[in-house]
Amino acid sequence: TDLRAFARAMPKAELHLHLEGTLEPELKFALAARNGIALAEKTVEDVVASYDFTDLTSFLAVYYPAMTVLQTADDFHDLAWAYLQKAREQGVVHVEMFFDPQAHTSRGVPFADVIAGYRRAVVRAQDELGVSAELILCFLRDFTAEHAMSTLMEALPYRAWIIGVGLDSDERGNPPAKFAEVFARAKAEGFFTTMHCDIDQPGSIEHIRQVIEEIGVDRIDHGTNIVEDPALVAVARERGLGFTTCPVSNSFVTEEMKADEIVQLLREGVRVTVNSDDPAYFGGYVADNYIALAEHADLSAADLARLAINSFEAAWLTPARRAAYI
Ligand code: HPA
Ligand code: ZN
Repeated sequence: TDLRAFARAMPKAELHLHLEGTLEPELKFALAARNGIALAEKTVEDVVASYDFTDLTSFLAVYYPAMTVLQTADDFHDLAWAYLQKAREQGVVHVEMFFDPQAHTSRGVPFADVIAGYRRAVVRAQDELGVSAELILCFLRDFTAEHAMSTLMEALPYRAWIIGVGLDSDERGNPPAKFAEVFARAKAEGFFTTMHCDIDQPGSIEHIRQVIEEIGVDRIDHGTNIVEDPALVAVARERGLGFTTCPVSNSFVTEEMKADEIVQLLREGVRVTVNSDDPAYFGGYVADNYIALAEHADLSAADLARLAINSFEAAWLTPARRAAYI
């Protein structure tokens, strides 16, 4: 329909995208062959059949083992480059992409190789696609705060290539406050900050309170459980805090896309955005997420345009760059 074409063509920023979550089965096979790695799965259908998620934990149990095919700087380049070309087809003109260095350094891949490969794709996206791309270093919250701090120290020589830091992986028992010191140091070094507050986690609303009041993040990833606390919603609206929601992802790791919560925040004037999270696993890139939400919640073209404007307002752009997009 027209609304689908509009959702695709509309210029947008993507702000919640895990590069390691863009590993499509075909590329997984190609990288395994190149690196001489034997995979348990023999066909694309086998791989897709293993995508049997019911919650965040069961997703992560598939997500991390798949990364073993990523070994060299070329592999990281090829992964990011494949995503960036798809993003361009989905109307993305600016993207801030998460990467999980600890998922690679912990299996012996040097930090320098990870970032060199990703950086090469970032530069190429600007030159060849006209897409502006930035990297966000995401810490794994089920690792220790000390491991996060040493990863931050390892990243400092690459400061110019990293726009911000985030926090992902298994949230149970790993509250934002665990990383207060790491994030204070990251801010002091000039990084923007964001943290995942995943959907329906034990302690969700307390974690959202911590990221807003104690950590003082610039953005929240997911975070739609905030609707449970109207006073906190008011704070988020006053501060213009961005929320990076991921409707299709939600429908895999919970029982629904959480459209009611997303639309409520949109109607209340909170800076809510739509993103794809781990598109290779959840089967939808960013425009597909706009379309899924629009069709489920009966959104108008004006609503979709507002969500896209929000994406530029919540992006870590200079005022001059932002003004060029909206
Ligand atoms: N939540 C937590 N960890 C993740 C996610 C997510 O949405 N995607 C990739 N790792
Ligand atoms: Zn995520």
